[in-house]
Amino acid sequence: MYRQIVILTGAGISAESGLRTFRDQDGLWEEHKIEDVATPEGYQRDPEMVERFYNERWQQLHSGKVEPNPAHIALARLEKEFDGQLLVVTQNIDDLHERAGSRRLLHMHGELTKGRCPRSQQTFLLTDHFGVNHTCTCCIPAQRLRPHVVWFGEMPIGLDRIHHALDSCDLFIAIGTSGTVYPAAGFVDTANHHGAHTVEINLLPADERSHFQCHLQGKASEIMPKVVELILSDKSIGNDSFDMPLRG
Ligand code: APR
Repeated sequence: MYRQIVILTGAGISAESGLRTFRDQDGLWEEHKIEDVATPEGYQRDPEMVERFYNERWQQLHSGKVEPNPAHIALARLEKEFDGQLLVVTQNIDDLHERAGSRRLLHMHGELTKGRCPRSQQTFLLTDHFGVNHTCTCCIPAQRLRPHVVWFGEMPIGLDRIHHALDSCDLFIAIGTSGTVYPAAGFVDTANHHGAHTVEINLLPADERSHFQCHLQGKASEIMPKVVELILSDKSIGNDSFDMPLRG
């Protein structure tokens, strides 16, 4: 059935692991202004405050209470058992996909577990949360590492590789993303343009302006294992797949 698959994940896939999304009811953007904690200008203005924002996320991720959920695990199974081409693109900066076993993964908005040298752009694994003592080892004098996170107004990572995969995929699935931030929000149009089957998995019903051909409403942790089962059994994903409200 499907030979080349691109999967885009958003904060909704990590919600059931206990990580807050951005725009849901208790989302992160309800408590923090994007311009203060997710822009280069905000960082220039108050680096300590931005580091505190990411340190809170980093500490929660390493608290021992946040684990991959069945949706992450299903994607890792798909990578292991699918004999076609698969690229998982995540907008998330957590490491739950990796901890579930995914390896062929692209973090287009960066990674919470890494710092980046502002001069060389080299990344460094953070063994503990951010602080001024986090400096690079690639420059003299050593530079203060910044979060390896793509802020608003900055170029996402890996767009060439993503578009190359979208241009030739026959299945595009978006899981747990509000589709409000570009360029990720436009990936479905590229996939549709190249004749791929496009599927959205979201807790909410389909938005009437949605460009997806199929909408599976419900929790990612419940739907994704079933979708992976269908793909591995060479079955199509659409109206007749599940007994849940669908738009197709
Ligand atoms: N299962 C499926 N979908 C879910 C679940 C769940 N358990 N929980 C929440 N969702 C859905 C919500 O309905 C919402 O559509 O996940 C989506 C989360 O949307 P956002 O909070 O906007 O997160 P995301 O789409 O990843 O944001 C994109 O915006 O702020 C920037 O860089 C940040 O990468 C982020 C980007």
